[in-house]
Amino acid sequence: MSENSSLRCAADPWRLRETAPDTAAHFLNETLFALGNGYIGVRGTGEEGYSGPAGTSMDGTYLNGFYESEPIQYPETAYALAKTNQFMLNVPNAKGIAVYLEDERFDPLQGTVEAYERTLDLRTGILERTLRWTSPSGRIVDYRSRRLVSFDNKHLLALHVQVTPVNFAGTVRIVATLDGAVKNLEAGDDPRVGSAISGPTLALLSAEHDERFAALVQRTHNSGFHLVSATSTHVGTAHDATSAQDGPRLVQTYTVPAAPGQPIHVTKYASYHSSRDYPEGELLERSRAVLAQAANKGFDALAQRQADYLADFWAQADVQIDGDDALQQGIRFNAYHLLQSVGRDGKTNIAAKGVTGEGYEGHYFWDTEIYIFPYFLYNKPEIARKLLDYRWAGLASARRRARQMSHERGALYPWRTIAGEECSAYFPAGTAQYHINADIAYSIKQYWDVTGDIDWLRASGAEIVMETARIWTGIGSWDRKGRFVINEVTGPDEYTALVNNNYYTNAMAQQHLRFAATVADKLATEYPADHARIAAAMALAQDEPAEWRRAADAMYLPYDAELGIHEQDDSFLSKKRWDFDSTPPDKYPLLLNYHPMVIYRHQVCKQADVVLALLLLSDRFTLEDKRRDFDYYEAVTTHDSSLSSCIYSIIAAEVGYQDKAYDYFMETARMDLDDTHGNTRYGVHTAAMAGTWLGVAYGFGGMRVADGDVRFAPTLPAQWRSYRFHIHLHGCLLRVAVDARGTTYTLLRGDALRFHHRDKPVVITQQNATHTEAP
Ligand code: BGC
Repeated sequence: MSENSSLRCAADPWRLRETAPDTAAHFLNETLFALGNGYIGVRGTGEEGYSGPAGTSMDGTYLNGFYESEPIQYPETAYALAKTNQFMLNVPNAKGIAVYLEDERFDPLQGTVEAYERTLDLRTGILERTLRWTSPSGRIVDYRSRRLVSFDNKHLLALHVQVTPVNFAGTVRIVATLDGAVKNLEAGDDPRVGSAISGPTLALLSAEHDERFAALVQRTHNSGFHLVSATSTHVGTAHDATSAQDGPRLVQTYTVPAAPGQPIHVTKYASYHSSRDYPEGELLERSRAVLAQAANKGFDALAQRQADYLADFWAQADVQIDGDDALQQGIRFNAYHLLQSVGRDGKTNIAAKGVTGEGYEGHYFWDTEIYIFPYFLYNKPEIARKLLDYRWAGLASARRRARQMSHERGALYPWRTIAGEECSAYFPAGTAQYHINADIAYSIKQYWDVTGDIDWLRASGAEIVMETARIWTGIGSWDRKGRFVINEVTGPDEYTALVNNNYYTNAMAQQHLRFAATVADKLATEYPADHARIAAAMALAQDEPAEWRRAADAMYLPYDAELGIHEQDDSFLSKKRWDFDSTPPDKYPLLLNYHPMVIYRHQVCKQADVVLALLLLSDRFTLEDKRRDFDYYEAVTTHDSSLSSCIYSIIAAEVGYQDKAYDYFMETARMDLDDTHGNTRYGVHTAAMAGTWLGVAYGFGGMRVADGDVRFAPTLPAQWRSYRFHIHLHGCLLRVAVDARGTTYTLLRGDALRFHHRDKPVVITQQNATHTEAP
């Protein structure tokens, strides 16, 4: 259960609110109150620092895509294992602002705190703290801090602190720090947490400081990137100032005369620029320019801009649930964190934990294509496109990886990575998940179906789809019965590894091969110049598309006629079932309590596998198929992966298990707020956050998109009075609102849209923008 009940009690549909400093929940709340803009991520630790017990905090600032690399140490190695790990770095802490009342340091964990409130407002994007503090010797101050990470300028973080003495006069000292003496979290026994590195990772090259400006120029040891972290601090009252350097730590001290009722304002702007984005020689100048521009605007103008950006976001992406505030809060919180986490420059992607913590080392997984990509495709398509651009940028690495893996042709995308190289050190649950190729192709097909963006397909998408399809004909083979089989892969379920004919993989590969052949034909007939260019770049043989079709048509899709279910793979159903009755709750997640072989030997799933195929390839299955598969696999699934319950919710809704649909949905919707997986302190679960949205649109909304045709089949959970969500489709923006009287579709942008309500065709136009269907 939640260690964080203070947040739940105070459920507010637009805000996250903490009403007392809480060392027990501090580590977790650092994640929940984290701010980000897809590039910078700053954990929610106070600017004054934290003096609580050891192990209750991991302050951190992260830059999406900025990483150090390290050789992976295998005591026993093998050919073509991933050689180098990349991990997201904890970069200098620029938010430090300590306040001294004479010589007493402001610290909410000492003295007495009254009227405490920390809020993250999802409409303004501001993290705010207000409190009245009485120091141990009786000095009272009103303290207010506000913080934002700009959606407008990816390099910028801004803080404003206001300190008002209540009952004393004298001096207040403000100490602003730019602290480069930071480290990453060291890995413990949990493979999902931390990195192998200990000690400082950034070498200091130079530093600059004066009474206002401070900058650290640093370099990573192995990946060779330069980083400039800089701050510009403004104290709004007459003061004396000094600045100093202590190794990689820059300190500016402002001594301000204090009088009761006279507020002291401190504004600090901070920026991060790295040589992943710009030439080294430009970094310092760019930092100065960004900070000067920010100071010119001022904190309030930046705050207004942030609110405007969010108003636009919510106008096109808000999901409303009428009837449950805690749930409403969870849904918006998830959407907000996705927006904060997603890279949108085409060079970065979205990490499993976003930029909120070090879990999974800042790596990108298939989580993007299968869970998060649809969220952006239907809510902010321009960001979805950037996620695809990232894969385009990684095609050369994927080609190299394919050669390492002995594939003469084609491209194999890495299971986990930051810059494009395979970083998975445990291949049975890593590299063996070849389905990543089909997942990427699936997202490209979705993008094409829903946007019709032919330019992107011609420029980038087609080549990715065709190069990745080649891997299937490379690893697959024809068996004695004339079936096309794919051996020795791992499907999505990581409690089963290195199997033959994983259903999900084969079915997704089949669709991928067909799509690749269709794309090749389309280019050949409609865009011959593009076809010629791509065919030359990949040395495409003339008969390859036909070979792809043959393999797809003969693809073996395991099915057990006796049970009437799709087999997860060739061996799954002949394994012994896991003994759930004798497994105490503290033995979950199984991965932390049993050797992988013990788990692999059993029928037990970490997450949706066949059941995920039921969603992604929905129109291939009858409702009865879906129900039987759901029943069978639900009984052997632990949902130890946070990627599981949202998918079970969606299929439960489809097969008519309304209670289960609701319960699984609720597990997903507040997963991080209630810390139901017990590890949110290391970062939010971005795939599950997107899964919440999928649960509303695909689950209760019954939305399915096949070859560009959209169908809705909404149901209203008994617990809700109504719900509504938005969908960007074919250049239009549609609102779908469901209540007891039926479903109302409203065209908010665009000329006209066609879709199905259940089996009935519906057309809405600007002239006739609203259409209602009875339940
Ligand atoms: C899941 C994977 C997922 C990874 C990162 C693992 O626990 O089993 O499917 O890609 O987490 O979220």
